[in-house]
Amino acid sequence: MRKSIYLDYAATTPVDPRVVKAMLPYFTEKFGNTMSLHSFGQEAKGALEESREAVADLMGAKPNEIIFTSSATESNNLALKGVALANKEKRNHLIISQIEHPCIMESAKWLESQGFEITRLKVDKYGLVSPDDVRKAIRKDTILVSIIHASNEIGTIQPIAEIGKIIKKSNIQYQKSKIYFHTDAAQTLGKIPIDVNKMNIDLLTASSHKMYGPKGAACLFVREGTKIEPLLHGGGHETGLRSSTVNVAAIVGFAEACKICQKGVKKEAQREIKLRNKLIKGVLGKIKGSHLNGHPQKRLPNNANFWFEFIEGESMVIQLDLIGIAASTGSACSSAKLEPSHVLLAIGLKPEEAQGSLRLTLGRWTTEKEINYVLKVLPETIKKLRKISPFKKSFKF
Ligand SMILES: Cc1ncc(COP(=O)(O)O)c(C=O)c1O
Repeated sequence: MRKSIYLDYAATTPVDPRVVKAMLPYFTEKFGNTMSLHSFGQEAKGALEESREAVADLMGAKPNEIIFTSSATESNNLALKGVALANKEKRNHLIISQIEHPCIMESAKWLESQGFEITRLKVDKYGLVSPDDVRKAIRKDTILVSIIHASNEIGTIQPIAEIGKIIKKSNIQYQKSKIYFHTDAAQTLGKIPIDVNKMNIDLLTASSHKMYGPKGAACLFVREGTKIEPLLHGGGHETGLRSSTVNVAAIVGFAEACKICQKGVKKEAQREIKLRNKLIKGVLGKIKGSHLNGHPQKRLPNNANFWFEFIEGESMVIQLDLIGIAASTGSACSSAKLEPSHVLLAIGLKPEEAQGSLRLTLGRWTTEKEINYVLKVLPETIKKLRKISPFKKSFKF
């Protein structure tokens, strides 16, 4: 049987064998609880603190600013709800964009139900948030601005450093009530350079399973001095911000994944950009009625996202799976829903256009041979599907 071609690295990545090797002792002989005083506990605690240093280093943070969590969903919930609840005395306004991941959108909706006001910024046709719109949306009662670093669906990279500068300037203006800046970097840490200080970021979400580490480990960078409430109360782990026995093996794996990315981030990005550009050029050139979603240049090195006229996305994903290509219509979290993606609607696609989307995301083990195979079989697949398309008109493809 032929091996499948995996082009869904934005949904999750395989764990790098070097990461697995680093994790293994922490399941068996080094299994201690980091809160225990005996040597087993202290060994685990040592590994935890070393891991904190490695994760912090990849984003230019201090180790004590890293709070380990179980997932990006948890980190994003903690960032939004934790900062809003801790600063609600005199303020109640938050700013997000219309193209955030569902865990930000839903956290914001919940905060709204609790009396907070949310501004959802529009994006342009490429999915870009305008820094000027952020500036205009900031009010005296703004607590937090949260903008995704790069879209998990269309790959567009936001001008985070510019937005950070605007928020810093507003903080000088409003002085007493600091406006915090959070970014969801689940799709970017380890793929493109991040420096939380240069970019004026106060809170940042990152996730292990998006960067060749295991599931069950993630982090929230929380700048020193940030007023934030925990969501989980208990034994006071992670400086009281995230109680619960620490998942040392997964965190050791996350740290190893960070170290591997740090060493090879630029070279790997260049390699993926070359393959991605070949894929985009090939698809747009070979398939009539195909369109690129997202920005042509300001996009993640590994992301290609298209919409095809007269095609229904789910049937395309199923058909591709049958011929050994694992792809997606958009975000893995919302692919079970049949509604069109909120991100594609926000960039101006009509519902029927958004339904015809295909996301192909490359990764560490994607080869040119695989891209060539996709370029060979995708045009045929689209042709076949158009013949039986429910959107069929008298089209000329
Ligand atoms: C940008 C972004 N944020 C948050 C998440 C949520 O991650 P998890 O499901 O691992 O909690 C994802 C995962 O798809 C993501 O891509």
